[in-house]
Amino acid sequence: MIRTKKVFRVGFLVVAVLAVGVAASAQTADQAWLRDAGHRGPNDIPIFAKAFGSGTLEKSAENEFYREIGKLRLKSVGDSFGSINGRVILGTAKEVQPAFPELSFPNDLNPDEYWLLWSKHNGHPFLFILGGDERGVLYGTFAVLRTLAEGKDVHFSGIRSHPAMPIRWMDEWDNPDGSIERGYAGRSIFFEGGNVRDDLTPVGEYARLLASIGINGVNVNNVNADAHLLDSEHLKQLARVSDVMRPWGVRLAVSVKITSPQEIGGLAIFDPLDPAVRAWWTAKTEEIYKLIPDFGGFTVKADSEGQPGPATYGRTPADAANLLASALAPHGGIVLYRAFVYNHHLDWRDPKADRARAAYDIFHPLDGQFAANVIVQIKEGPIDFQAREPVSPIFAGLQKTNAAMELEVTQEYTGQQRHLVYLAPMWKQVLDFDLRADSQSTPVKEIIAGKSFHRPLGGIVAVAGVGRDAWLGSPLALANLYAFGRLAWNPDQTPEEIAAEWTRQTFGNDPEVVSTVTKMLMQSWPAYENYTGPLGLQTLTDITGSHYGPNIEASERNGWGQWHRADKDGVGMDRSVAHGTGYAGQYPPEVAKIYENVATTPDELLLFFHHVPYSYKLHSGKTVIQSLYDSHYEGAEQAAEFARQWAKLEGKIDQPLYEQVRDRLRYQSGHAIVWRDAIVQYFLKLSGIPDEKGRAGHYPGRLEAEDAKLTGYKIIDVNPWEDTSGGKAVSCDDPLTPKNVKDGMPFCKAEWKWKGAKGIYDIAVQYFDLQPGKAEYFLEQNGMMRLGEIGPWWSADAILPSNKPHGDNSNRHLVRGVWLNPGDVVSIRAIPDGNDHAALDYIEVRPAKRNSELTVNLPCPQGRLIEQGDGPDAVNETVGPELAGWAGETNIGTPVEGMLVELFHPGDKIAIATTRTNEEGGFRFTGLAPGRYRVKASGVVENGDDELVRLDPTAKAQLCLVVE
Ligand code: GCU
Repeated sequence: MIRTKKVFRVGFLVVAVLAVGVAASAQTADQAWLRDAGHRGPNDIPIFAKAFGSGTLEKSAENEFYREIGKLRLKSVGDSFGSINGRVILGTAKEVQPAFPELSFPNDLNPDEYWLLWSKHNGHPFLFILGGDERGVLYGTFAVLRTLAEGKDVHFSGIRSHPAMPIRWMDEWDNPDGSIERGYAGRSIFFEGGNVRDDLTPVGEYARLLASIGINGVNVNNVNADAHLLDSEHLKQLARVSDVMRPWGVRLAVSVKITSPQEIGGLAIFDPLDPAVRAWWTAKTEEIYKLIPDFGGFTVKADSEGQPGPATYGRTPADAANLLASALAPHGGIVLYRAFVYNHHLDWRDPKADRARAAYDIFHPLDGQFAANVIVQIKEGPIDFQAREPVSPIFAGLQKTNAAMELEVTQEYTGQQRHLVYLAPMWKQVLDFDLRADSQSTPVKEIIAGKSFHRPLGGIVAVAGVGRDAWLGSPLALANLYAFGRLAWNPDQTPEEIAAEWTRQTFGNDPEVVSTVTKMLMQSWPAYENYTGPLGLQTLTDITGSHYGPNIEASERNGWGQWHRADKDGVGMDRSVAHGTGYAGQYPPEVAKIYENVATTPDELLLFFHHVPYSYKLHSGKTVIQSLYDSHYEGAEQAAEFARQWAKLEGKIDQPLYEQVRDRLRYQSGHAIVWRDAIVQYFLKLSGIPDEKGRAGHYPGRLEAEDAKLTGYKIIDVNPWEDTSGGKAVSCDDPLTPKNVKDGMPFCKAEWKWKGAKGIYDIAVQYFDLQPGKAEYFLEQNGMMRLGEIGPWWSADAILPSNKPHGDNSNRHLVRGVWLNPGDVVSIRAIPDGNDHAALDYIEVRPAKRNSELTVNLPCPQGRLIEQGDGPDAVNETVGPELAGWAGETNIGTPVEGMLVELFHPGDKIAIATTRTNEEGGFRFTGLAPGRYRVKASGVVENGDDELVRLDPTAKAQLCLVVE
């Protein structure tokens, strides 16, 4: 069945959505997994809920029950759903037990824990949602609502559930000016213009969303902290933030700058051991608790990446952490002191220097010196949220210190939400990783839960990056936020289960949707790793800039220590004890032994631990270089497959949501090619070893811009060279001569003569989409824009990082269904705008995948069937003053929307009027002088399977003409 909707706008949508994201008027939790996805379930549930306690959290739970229950189309009983005689009972076990003496409820529920029971009382159905405390009641309510949304049974037989760890926090890296460090979803929901925002409604909605997955704290500002947030005026503002989060059981915390006593306190120093400094923090903390009695605590980044710290005075992280801890302790607050402390001025010539060692080298000697309310917050790997890293060894190196793990929901190094990367499988590997401390089973999830080393505190924190653009900008990225909360609650849940849960709540329970989306999510991290940095190379991106597109050498030969030490003979960082940096020796012996030896190191981490020749044979049986080639081709193909998988779901998902995701996936499949080609060409050149499958360096159908006949365009070098095909691009930089002006607009042009066979082709145009400015592009054939194709005109208005042409902003636009004859001139005409110089890399002409020709051949009761044609035998009709008609698909009669219809004077080549068929397949020309005209219909439409159906301009198709 051919679906023929909105085909001609496809090309524009790709860029438009990336540019504006979702214009969120009212930002609510319903934009995420609490949305109304048209759920239907088998359940019959009491429709009245009663909270037994009078606290705010129970009230929230009750409200939430009513709010959500209305969205769930439950089994109907009579003409409404649910029992009106039963009740949903909400409360702590202590509050509820006296009213139901015949039932026995557990009396040992812990804080945050809940217990669910379906039972009969006086012959009526009752659902009990009981908590160890009010938070537990709230979490239990969300658990019930989640079960209902998933269409699962809520006849609970007394199940209990408690979180695996006490600290389950989000870190927001928001700045007071409203920007967000490493945020990819618009501006801050907390701050604007130096202050807390007046409208905190989104913050309340965010807290609601977080409560639904059991998150109990939010640190609201950047770890690169602004000291002024602690001044009295800002603290009052922050109290408003905590007021809107409190009803959802979410505590507020802030990042503090260790220099605050000096910067805003008027002291001469900030030495953590100085009594005046100590007094300042004590007083400041008291001030905070007066305003925010349930304040969570402080997060600290110090002596790291230019942030000052205790090292200024020769003091240790323990000195600084304990100073803050003693101020917070009387109020029940905690310090999350980050282990992300390292020297970013390392000497890259020193083979022993290694940034990965830093956390262990600095914090292990301090084990046992931290106060009881300090938690050391450790990034999951030793570097910085790369596509893959080993687990940080310091988790095993702090046995007398509380520890928390830090993850990143915001996809800083994993595609910045433009790429689909579901991170739960990566996190799960880390959580399950058994560090074998003291040769005992010590998986990371048990260490951070405080179990392994019997610590009273511990937990998990994720950098969120939520903003005003529908929380994370991309609908599918919300699966990461959801999965983080679910794993924090129960790290034993599988990423698949979580993905399916999230999908059901977000998109509904259609089995095809659930299985397709779950599969896409599960394959997305391996795909991303494949086309960015496999074998433990880390994300081969611009590590000192955007952290987005490919830039392999950005990590080499500088002090930041993210080296992979690629040269002509080999690649990888030797971190062995025997002849490398010794990092492998920081792990407990059983694990150290595995990583120390090149033969036992798993392939996916090989180059993180060892420097090997390109010809080194992996466990997979491939050489390192062939594996690099293969994984990049596989990864890019996987990315293309996501777009195809998603296309199958059209009609099963809300159309706007469907389109947003479709456009991002199309973008991703193009950008995966940029990544693939950059890394493959780089290693091909460096190693000189060809790809045994003949792909690297050979691009069938590719026509380079630098080889084109150029008008106005100049050939440019791009930095890094590997981000362009063939190492060069063209850019429309120069003032243009008058002859390069069309319709009053100066332009540049690149032309190629088509030397291939006659046929229908798709043409991919690879260009650089720069800010600020929106260059316009036209694909022309023999000097004319072919309006009958899909997407022959587009505007480069995506918001992509960086303002110089390279891999960050290399974008791909596909023009589909172009009919080419040998000798045709294909050209790109571009109009630059602002800083967007319409830089162009190449076009790639590939035979179009298509399933059939479209013949317009319809029953024509009120009109006359005519044949159309392009040649001298074209049918001419005497008409006027109106000429109307319609076009549809043969036999089925499905109207075809978007066909180009042109009207000519007989014998003319230039149309006097053009129009497109509307949704009903109709077209109409009005105000015509009576006379003879020729009509031509042509165009390409896309069906649901990403294939083209085309009426080619010379086809002997038929049109129904109604002469009025
Ligand atoms: C990364 C990130 C920085 C951030 C730092 C941190 O390096 O790019 O923006 O400040 O991590 O975690 O402190």
